[in-house]
Amino acid sequence: MSRLARRALLALAATGLAAAPVAAQQYPARPITMIVPFAAGGPTDTVARLAAEAMGRDLGQTIVVENAGGAGGTIGAQRVAQARPDGYTLLLHHIGMSTAPTLYRRLAYDPVGGFETVGLVTEVPMTLVARKDFPANTLAEAIAVIRRDKEKLNYANAGIGAASHLCGLLLMKAVDTPMTTVPFRGTAPAMQELLAGRVDLLCDQTTNTTEQINSGAVKVFSVTTPQRLSPLPNVPTSAEGGLPEFQITVWHGLYAPKGTPAAVTQRLSQALQVALRDPKLVARFAELGTAPVAQEMATPDAHRRFWQADTAKWRPIIQAAGQYAD
Ligand code: MLT
Repeated sequence: MSRLARRALLALAATGLAAAPVAAQQYPARPITMIVPFAAGGPTDTVARLAAEAMGRDLGQTIVVENAGGAGGTIGAQRVAQARPDGYTLLLHHIGMSTAPTLYRRLAYDPVGGFETVGLVTEVPMTLVARKDFPANTLAEAIAVIRRDKEKLNYANAGIGAASHLCGLLLMKAVDTPMTTVPFRGTAPAMQELLAGRVDLLCDQTTNTTEQINSGAVKVFSVTTPQRLSPLPNVPTSAEGGLPEFQITVWHGLYAPKGTPAAVTQRLSQALQVALRDPKLVARFAELGTAPVAQEMATPDAHRRFWQADTAKWRPIIQAAGQYAD
């Protein structure tokens, strides 16, 4: 290569390197896409749209929420892991980010190394609900029906690795009885089937079940938290219903593709922290049985530490169940 060409290449590289901080300084210069790896209208979608609206106001840019469901959330996660690391494609996902690395052994993307963390968002309780004419009115009665009818019962979930799948794992382990599981692209379509009476049981987050429970459209047997929830004061905890080990909450976090500049993830974390103080978001979260995480958890480092610890927690649970997605 001639000396002139080499000097031109070095000058170009320098420009390119110099451009990175400038791009980060101008970020965001255009609308951002936030991928939700489950169907629209479900609990993850609900959290994402509330966060996206409030973050967009702080960033001065629209955040467009796009649903990419399937395979327990791994389809949408793959989309983001393989996107340009420029801060314009984000992932809002939940506890499935801790379980996919163990459940899925042949993913086309790195389920841990493929992402930069931005911050935790919220931790949502779950509820065990049934179709309105299910032949039980308490958790103890529901357990008796599960033990009697076994695989004749259809348990709906959003695919292997979804929160509804993990909740079902814990339930079937606690009652030591399998049921037939019916997967959907999210628990919004699963809820539609439950309301229509075409499936029997669903364990889903309060962000998708609170209003159905309070309107009497579904039966409810327990909340999966140590304490009762203020929007569902008459719903007993699993422990009160005689199944103390049936407890799970669903944490949600925000991610960007690996290699996204730290200046960009820091700016996003700052907008997330502002969003989590937004009175409209806080009030709507409370109506749906949840709350924003503490501000110090909505940071890249705190999120990554939490995610690493939760992945290590779920690995032996999944390995003991011996159920893998591939
Ligand atoms: C959803 O948003 O559809 C749910 O989070 C799916 C699941 O994880 O159960």
